[in-house]
Amino acid sequence: MNRIMIGAIVGALSIAANAAINVIPQPNFVEEREGEYVVQGRIGDNIRFISDARIPAESYRLVVTPKGIFVTASDDAGRFYAMQTLRQLHNEGRIPCVFIDDMPRFKWRGLLFDDGRHFFGKETLMKTLDAMALHKLNVLHWVITQDQGWRIEIKKYPELTKKGSVRAGSPKPVVLVTPKDVPESGTGWVNNHIQYGPYFYTQDDIREIVAYAAARHITIVPEIELPGHSVAALSAYPWLGCTGEQFEPWCRWGVSENIYCGGNDETIKFLEDVMDEVCELFPGPFIHIGGDEAPKTVWKRCPKCQKRIKDLGLAGEEGLQGWMTDHFTKYLAAKGKRAIGWDEVLDGEPGKETIIMSWRGPQGGIKAASRGNDAVMCPVDPCYIDNPQGLADDPYEYINYGFQATLERCYGFNPTAGVPESEHSHILGGQGNNWSEYTWTGSELEWKIWPRMSALAECLWTVPERKSWTCFKARIPAMRRMLIREHHINCAPIE
Ligand code: ACM
Ligand code: ZN
Repeated sequence: MNRIMIGAIVGALSIAANAAINVIPQPNFVEEREGEYVVQGRIGDNIRFISDARIPAESYRLVVTPKGIFVTASDDAGRFYAMQTLRQLHNEGRIPCVFIDDMPRFKWRGLLFDDGRHFFGKETLMKTLDAMALHKLNVLHWVITQDQGWRIEIKKYPELTKKGSVRAGSPKPVVLVTPKDVPESGTGWVNNHIQYGPYFYTQDDIREIVAYAAARHITIVPEIELPGHSVAALSAYPWLGCTGEQFEPWCRWGVSENIYCGGNDETIKFLEDVMDEVCELFPGPFIHIGGDEAPKTVWKRCPKCQKRIKDLGLAGEEGLQGWMTDHFTKYLAAKGKRAIGWDEVLDGEPGKETIIMSWRGPQGGIKAASRGNDAVMCPVDPCYIDNPQGLADDPYEYINYGFQATLERCYGFNPTAGVPESEHSHILGGQGNNWSEYTWTGSELEWKIWPRMSALAECLWTVPERKSWTCFKARIPAMRRMLIREHHINCAPIE
């Protein structure tokens, strides 16, 4: 951040947000001015763009006067974000005069989209990308391999989608009287025996989606999970597991003990081959390699896994997972990519290059930063937006997770909370996660994401001194109307 921008932030702190300047996320410096600009024709034709290398990446200066609109930036992302601000300021052909100096607090401003448990498809995904762009969100973490479905075409291993993208059924509650009577996750569910799939994205679909996201300055980070959550892959190629047993894509939610064999060189080669195709398809700098919820029960009795532990002198099964994490971090680094793992990978003492995604709480991210790893924060509370949002009447809330991720709670998220100031540079940012076990359709997914993602977007863009829940509550109805009218999003009410 250059000196001009720092001065602007400090100057902004004393200025209260004004209702006429209604933008989410709240810009970091706003000075309202007299008058308004009357738009002639298309808004794009009314803007003068100025390049200034002193403006940091993704940042912009927007000046609206009665005579014209001036956007200054050093890159396309900055110009794009100025346009998103203008879209929100524009009201029936008029734009209030204003001086805005704006820059993101964090460089990772993400949303996790789980196509594994339920599959939402291109249309919902693209609508989501459009709404993310409006909020200056720039990372879509895309879960495309899960126990319950493999969703990405891999040319070298066609059975992954032929077999792995279809499951024979999904969990259904044993007794359903009203939605509120559905039992808690994991108990009281049976298989509905309704085939789900084949659902997957072809490589052409993926290229189209990646390009669509790139045009909106959104990087897609695919998650190719290892060693756990891999039952769908084991169903396609049983030799990938420790026992060679034939599995079926899982018809339950939860954590399976059947995972990739960490001792089998052919399994490692398979995962390298998959990564080769994934790296070709996703030009972004990050690949997520999972690492969460990998029980070691089968590894404990697998001769191959035990041999690898012994031969390499690893610290037991956790050490074996650590070896896999390091192997793929290095494999991806050789292709110019950075590997990301869920916070469990810290148990395997990963190298400094691995980025840690902190989900069980902030502790994983705090520990990562203290040992010199970069981290992305998405603690369950409040970033898991599959949790109920506490609406008085919510047709989509079936599950009691034990707490509510209300809009206000989401708004309270601060990715650097608990991290010593000297380590803040390791916190790349954060994201909202919607795991889709209990999200069946695209419209339910939208209801869970919006407007809570609007709140999280502000936590990731706006400095804490410029945030105010009261002010956000005054601004969110206009954003909700915009999501519904312009993006046809099934946005939940505010309360
Ligand atoms: C996770 O929620 N298992 C990362
Ligand atoms: Zn094994």
